[in-house]
Amino acid sequence: MRPMRTGRSSAPEPLELAGRRVTLRTLCEADYDAWHEIRVRCRDWLLPWEPRPAGAPPPSEDRASFAARCALRERERQVGTGYGFGIFVGARLVGELTLSSVQRGPFQSASIGYWIDRDWAGQSLMPEAVVVALRFAFETLQLHRVEVSIIPRNRASRRVAEKLDLRLEGISERYLEIDGRWEDHVRYAMTAEEWQQRGPELVSAWLDAPAGEQAERR
Ligand SMILES: CC(C)(COP(=O)(O)OP(=O)(O)OC[C@H]1O[C@@H](n2cnc3c(N)ncnc32)[C@H](O)[C@@H]1OP(=O)(O)O)[C@@H](O)C(=O)NCCC(=O)NCCS
Repeated sequence: MRPMRTGRSSAPEPLELAGRRVTLRTLCEADYDAWHEIRVRCRDWLLPWEPRPAGAPPPSEDRASFAARCALRERERQVGTGYGFGIFVGARLVGELTLSSVQRGPFQSASIGYWIDRDWAGQSLMPEAVVVALRFAFETLQLHRVEVSIIPRNRASRRVAEKLDLRLEGISERYLEIDGRWEDHVRYAMTAEEWQQRGPELVSAWLDAPAGEQAERR
């Protein structure tokens, strides 16, 4: 992980977390064009699964709103309440993952939310990105519990949790307001104890380079 700030500049250093195929990096204003292109092209794919109060218009996607969102995420990162990342394959932005609602005290918990560009779906990039985020949450932030909450009918997202064998905790009724409706959510979670046991296996399966690639690098 890179340091968060340089010595001289007041501009924050991006936070970058490496996976095998994906890199998680904090977004900045320079990412707007790529982000906006995906958000417009994939609107129907993304909006049905996103938090939004009833009657509210879709979230604003202009350049100024994106810049304000980046600044807000930066403040959250600095105070330690949330960590928003773009998901990149090489230099290409393909989605977002957010570790939000970071609570300290006796809870030491956070929630993961995510989306991927429809053109990049189906390559198991999101389970890999989630393992990167879990490693960061447990090993860097030293959190105790991370959850992923999913609308029961969102089969694709449930597959992400299933591929990682996250523990199924049950259903919370009318849990989050998604696309204008209070939706039940299936809650999956992992605790630090489980990460201690399963983390090495998840890192090896999802983040370490396959044996052939490792040999080539040597
Ligand atoms: C949920 C989501 C993040 C999964 O990301 P991903 O990188 O495609 O994850 P995976 O490759 O592991 O695919 C998971 C499942 O999605 C489904 N899927 C794969 N490609 C798909 C496609 N092109 N269209 C629709 N569903 C697809 C499959 O059921 C797959 O499971 P399988 O691998 O057992 O067949 C992605 O579908 C998405 O962004 N959806 C819209 C937003 C959303 O639902 N966000 C999550 C809210 S909780």
